[in-house]
Amino acid sequence: MTGARLLGLGVYRPARLVTNDEIAQQVDTSDAWIRSRTGIATRRIADAEETTAAMGAAAAEKALAAAGLTADSIDLVIAATCTSPSQIPGVGPQIAYRVGAARAGAFDLNGGCAGFSYAVSTAADMVRGGGVRQVLVVATERLSDYTDWADRSTCILLADGAGATVVGASDTDEIGPAVWGHDGSRHEVIQVPGGDDNLFRMAGQSVFRWAISLVPTVRQICERAGVAPEQLAGIVPHQANLRIVEALATGIGATNAAVARDVVDSGNTSAASIPLGLASLLDAGRIRRGDPVLLFGFGAGLTYCGQVVRCP
Ligand code: COA
Repeated sequence: MTGARLLGLGVYRPARLVTNDEIAQQVDTSDAWIRSRTGIATRRIADAEETTAAMGAAAAEKALAAAGLTADSIDLVIAATCTSPSQIPGVGPQIAYRVGAARAGAFDLNGGCAGFSYAVSTAADMVRGGGVRQVLVVATERLSDYTDWADRSTCILLADGAGATVVGASDTDEIGPAVWGHDGSRHEVIQVPGGDDNLFRMAGQSVFRWAISLVPTVRQICERAGVAPEQLAGIVPHQANLRIVEALATGIGATNAAVARDVVDSGNTSAASIPLGLASLLDAGRIRRGDPVLLFGFGAGLTYCGQVVRCP
């Protein structure tokens, strides 16, 4: 076996649903403004028990069940997160412990909102290399810990959640080549500065313009995979803002693809947004096992990464 594929998918959405009207009680905004500028109608905000490790483990258990695997078959756990509650320790080992992946290695990967795509690519290449057979990739985020609830330009966007998949060895190769890159010269455009200001800060318009400029990059992901945009069954861009999601899908000419619009219900969950978006299309029956689906993450860094995968 020299290929790699996604064996299963699982997600965790926090119980608490927060509406735009609730946010409008805290800051000077409105449901109409938020919907028209971002597409967001509601978002999920975690409670104290719904930690990055707890949400990640819950999603991971569902992914294992969907893959028909037990935790002892996992060789490695990669936690894609940029909202770990502390710098030390990482979340990956805690998730591995919680799910009972007793013999697995575990580490964190911070690729910002592109973290899931980076982790899938890393896992797939490790599997193809033969060193591991099954890797649990878990994207888990609690952006609410880093949200300035007095900043109306960011608190309307940010949310919590988790999504996981198992990348496993396969006779067929179902994870296409990753296309990635960065503009680290503009790392301050999205940041948690630290020190006295440990909250999420963003130059929204700059991020918006940068994201829209990535249309040729998204097209390149299709080219590298040998799949024409009109052959895609689904497209799951990072769920940052519905206008960005739609501009990327329309921009590449993905005319037949179901477009993930999970941001409307779930807000921006950073690295978790791609597995959550993929799950929303699968659950709605808009894509099926084996369908070609384009994943594309972009955000803090600035960095991006994407690939075409066959749906798990
Ligand atoms: N409600 C009402 N007004 C708001 C507001 C809110 N929630 N947030 C900002 N505004 C105001 C601003 O204060 C500004 O007012 P002014 O003209 O009087 O100064 C006006 O709206 C325009 O602000 P601007 O920042 O230009 O708005 P925008 O149309 O760019 O929308 C974002 C702001 C954040 C929604 C938008 O830039 C965006 O979505 N950017 C991308 C963010 C993203 O995807 N980040 C994640 C990347 S991983």
